Order: sequence, then structure tokens, then C-alpha cells
Amino acid sequence: MNTVLEVKDLSVALKVGNNTKQILSNIDFTVDKGQCLGILGQSGSGKSMTAKSMLGLLDRNFTVTGSAVYKEKELIGESKESLRDIRGKEIAMVLQNPMTCFDPLCRIGSQILETFQAHTDWDASKQQAKALELLERMRIHDPLEVMEKHPHQLSGGMLQRIMIGIAMIMEPSLLIADEPTTAIDAINQYSIMEEFKNIKNEYNTAMIFITHDLGAIAKIADEVLVLNQGRIADKGSLHGILHHAADPYTRLLIEKRAAVMERYHNALYKEKLRYA
Ligand SMILES: Nc1ncnc2c1ncn2[C@@H]1O[C@H](COP(=O)(O)OP(=O)(O)OP(=O)(O)O)[C@@H](O)[C@H]1O
Ligand SMILES: [Mg+2]
Repeated sequence: MNTVLEVKDLSVALKVGNNTKQILSNIDFTVDKGQCLGILGQSGSGKSMTAKSMLGLLDRNFTVTGSAVYKEKELIGESKESLRDIRGKEIAMVLQNPMTCFDPLCRIGSQILETFQAHTDWDASKQQAKALELLERMRIHDPLEVMEKHPHQLSGGMLQRIMIGIAMIMEPSLLIADEPTTAIDAINQYSIMEEFKNIKNEYNTAMIFITHDLGAIAKIADEVLVLNQGRIADKGSLHGILHHAADPYTRLLIEKRAAVMERYHNALYKEKLRYA
């Protein structure tokens, strides 16, 4: 079976006093093995909610309805313990805010090794080797030194890279990345996007890539879902969305990016003429 995740009619309501506020309405999508679904949408459109609601990461004020079937297992309504177990072993999530994912009191190295102890059967020497491998793959200099540091001694971008590295090295069946490269500089962003592509191709990992960066979506996504105010505004193949977006916001994003690229090419062309 190729479908890893099938989401149907996923909705989230938030209780505020005596009222309820609808946050997500009737979200449908599937993700297949080796495929990446890009979720695009402006701030507050419900991208993070879509991921969190499936994985039991919302508190009790939120009511989640609908269905999210991961490899024939229904996730909605599943117990916290069972979801935590699946989250560690099979579904990895890179959260939007890396600071919240690390314990401020523990050294980076021991946090990485603890994750491996909880979710793999690797022995101590393999754990150590894998920790170094993930830091090197994420272009972290002096990995041995970094393992001795506490989270506040590293930059947000470094923590974000370490978090991506941990998620990738565990070889999950489904990798959900929520704005994974926002705190990372352009050069590292480029190489980390390449790593995401490698993981997808090497291990046939199913992926959900959440971003408002159309450039990142264009690099990695096969299918695209556009959200607007908690609803699906547009849905289709990457090519379809880039060339025939139905939703006005998506079209605006595409036009803006096209204008930036044109300016860039013009500048490059002028520069070339100057040195010709
Ligand atoms: N803890 C919360 N309590 C109340 N409302 C929330 C909470 N978290 C999110 N929301 C609301 O849910 C909606 C969707 O939020 P979500 O975080 O999914 O947006 P997003 O698309 O991920 O935005 P961004 O690009 O800024 O990360 C927003 O209207 C937001 O105000
Ligand atoms: Mg978000």
C-alpha cells in the first residue's frame, strides 16, 4: 500500500467561554510513500493546526473531528500515550519553534542520545556515531563541542538544524516539517532543503512540508494544499498550482515571486554586460 496518511474532513473547533470558534474546516488530503505534500498559506491560515490536530498536540480546549488514518490506524481520538509512541518512532515532526523542543537545563548531546534511547534499539556506540552524523549532515561545525552545550548557548538556526537532523536520522515513515528553515540563513537553507530531498528519495519517506515560502514548496513538493482561514483554498499538483492557481492569494504569491525572480535575472544580466 502506498498511502501513508489519509486525512478526511479534519476540523478543529476552539471553545472560548460559552462560544466555539471554528479553526479548521473539512480538510482532506492524502500523502503517499516517497511523496511530499506542501501546505501553503498565510500566517494564521491553519497550517500548524492541521499538523498538530492529527498528532494530539492540542490542549483540551480544542475539539478535533474527522479522520486521519496513518497506515490503517486512526489517529483522531487515539490516546495521548499511543500518539506519543507513534510520534517518536514512525512520525517525526519538526516544530515551528525550535526553542520549545529542547530542555533548557540539559546539554544538547544528552538530549539527542535520550531521544535515541527512547525510540531506537541502537547501542551506545551507534548512538554516538549517529549523533555526530546528524550534526555533520546539518552542517554544524565542531559537533563534539556543540554536544556539550546547553540550548541557550546556540542560535535559533542551529537548534532548528539539530531538530531537523534528529527527525531525519530516525528514518521516520512520515516526516512533518513546520516552517523548518525560517531561522536558518540562506546558504544553510539551501543545503538543508537538499537534505530533505535526499531523505525523501533515499528512504522513500512521506513528507508534509509546511511553509509560506513558495520557493521552498517549488523545490520539494509534489502536491500542494493552500489554506485560507482554516479552509482549503486550492489543491493540486505543484505544476497545476504554479500555473493555474484558482485561489487569488496563491496567484498573488506566485506573481510576487515571479516579479522578484525577474528583477534578479535583470540585475544579473546588467552585471554580466558590465563585465563583458
Ligand atoms: N493556542 C491557541 N489558542 C487560540 N487560538 C489559536 C491557538 N493556536 C492557534 N490559534 C488560532 O488558530 C488559527 C490557525 O493558527 P495556526 O497556528 O495553524 O496558523 P499558521 O497557518 O500555522 O500560521 P503561521 O504561518 O503564522 O505559523 C489562527 O487563527 C490562530 O489565531
Ligand atoms: Mg504555523
